[in-house]
Amino acid sequence: MKRSVFCGVSLDGFLARPNDSFDFLFAGGAKPHDFEEFYASVDVVVLGRRTFEVVLKLGHMSLYGKKPVVVLSSHPLDFSTVKNAAVEQMSGEPTDIVKRLEARGFQHAYIDGGVTIQRFLAAGLVDRLTVTRVPVLIGAGIPLFGSVPGDITLRHVATRAYKDGLVQSEYEIGGGAEER
Ligand SMILES: NC(=O)c1ccc[n+]([C@@H]2O[C@H](COP(=O)([O-])OP(=O)(O)OC[C@H]3O[C@@H](n4cnc5c(N)ncnc54)[C@H](OP(=O)(O)O)[C@@H]3O)[C@@H](O)[C@H]2O)c1
Repeated sequence: MKRSVFCGVSLDGFLARPNDSFDFLFAGGAKPHDFEEFYASVDVVVLGRRTFEVVLKLGHMSLYGKKPVVVLSSHPLDFSTVKNAAVEQMSGEPTDIVKRLEARGFQHAYIDGGVTIQRFLAAGLVDRLTVTRVPVLIGAGIPLFGSVPGDITLRHVATRAYKDGLVQSEYEIGGGAEER
């Protein structure tokens, strides 16, 4: 099963402000370029609990459509208020999550949420990373990247610059962290 990350960040690397607002991603009418095409290619969405809570609070769960959404948390979650989405919970090491999803026949997982992405990256379980950088510095917030147990080498696939100032870079990752 392929595992992909597709996210937007401020130029200084934040997924959201400290209060979870991500207004800066859409300033000036910018759009998450090529997201629809990417989303059409995935068959399961894996969300960190905090991202799930933000999406739920905004009433945006229906944006996932009919695709199964797996929310990761080590605590019991209440899905009773979730409408128009197929949601379930999993927890464990990223490698176990991947095995469980593969056993169910999923082909392409969309991994989302800062800490969640960081855990999958550290475990060598992200195959493709597409980051759209928005030309704004916000100074503080929820980071896309964090500490890594060793260097993670990426292969640059393509970078696209858009008229609205967004710069989207796509990388392939061959494996996990290498010892320094
Ligand atoms: N700009 C973008 O494209 C973008 C994309 C995604 C998210 N965001 C934003 O990023 C923020 C959330 O990111 P975040 O880094 O704070 O958190 P996150 O990754 O969404 O959620 C972290 C939580 O997920 C759970 N988790 C992750 N991996 C797990 C595993 N293997 N097993 C069990 N539980 C696991 C843990 O929940 P428990 O503590 O319950 O155990 C952990 O505390 C939000 O503001 C969201 O809106 C922005």
